[in-house]
Amino acid sequence: MALPWDFHPIEGERVRLDLLRDDDLDDLYALQSDPEVCRYLLYEPRSRERVAHVLARDAAAARLESPHDYLQPAIRDRDGRFLGTMYFELHSVDPDRTAEIGWILAPHAQGEGYASEAARLLLGLAFEELGLHRVYAELDPRNGASVALCERLGMRHEGHFVEHMWLKGEWTDTGHYAILEHEWAARRA
Ligand SMILES: CC(C)(COP(=O)(O)OP(=O)(O)OC[C@H]1O[C@@H](n2cnc3c(N)ncnc32)[C@H](O)[C@@H]1OP(=O)(O)O)[C@@H](O)C(=O)NCCC(=O)NCCS
Repeated sequence: MALPWDFHPIEGERVRLDLLRDDDLDDLYALQSDPEVCRYLLYEPRSRERVAHVLARDAAAARLESPHDYLQPAIRDRDGRFLGTMYFELHSVDPDRTAEIGWILAPHAQGEGYASEAARLLLGLAFEELGLHRVYAELDPRNGASVALCERLGMRHEGHFVEHMWLKGEWTDTGHYAILEHEWAARRA
């Protein structure tokens, strides 16, 4: 495996993955305080103070080396405008080589394929650069846009955990999706 991996911006055709910066606070606060955006996330809409804390923490997460190291890069368009954030966390290094992926787009950036492109950039990093074996996503199965994104990426539906957790005042199901290195390679061929 090509670890440690130190963050560098990742360029796609229409999006760029870049570390969060202090001047993302307004955009990140708008994103993480929006009840619609947060509806299927694990957290409730956040205060500006909480987002400022999270931004400082996540902007410093720039190295993948050990289990639980993570990245939370900004998704920006070619003009540098903030579109949302991606999430990528190493869960196992040796021998399982597994990571989790996640995504959040600002409402104005949804429906344009930006999350698909950003996710493909991270799957490329995972399989082609880091040499991971499996990348998975967990989601609320009611989150149709996120389910559709997993399917668009070629992630298999691996499981549906019924009333898996008590969240935001109700029992909530969790869906598991995953893609393996050889499945990614077959899609790229
Ligand atoms: C989940 C989420 C990131 C999906 O965003 P999205 O914009 O639907 O996802 P994509 O980037 O894959 O875009 C796909 C849509 O763009 C359209 N599109 C337009 N141009 C496109 C292009 N060049 N390439 C691909 N899709 C394109 C697709 O047709 C599709 O639209 P549709 O859903 O109306 O069919 C978004 O709904 C979100 O941020 N939700 C709130 C946070 C959240 O719940 N995160 C997930 C937690 S598990």
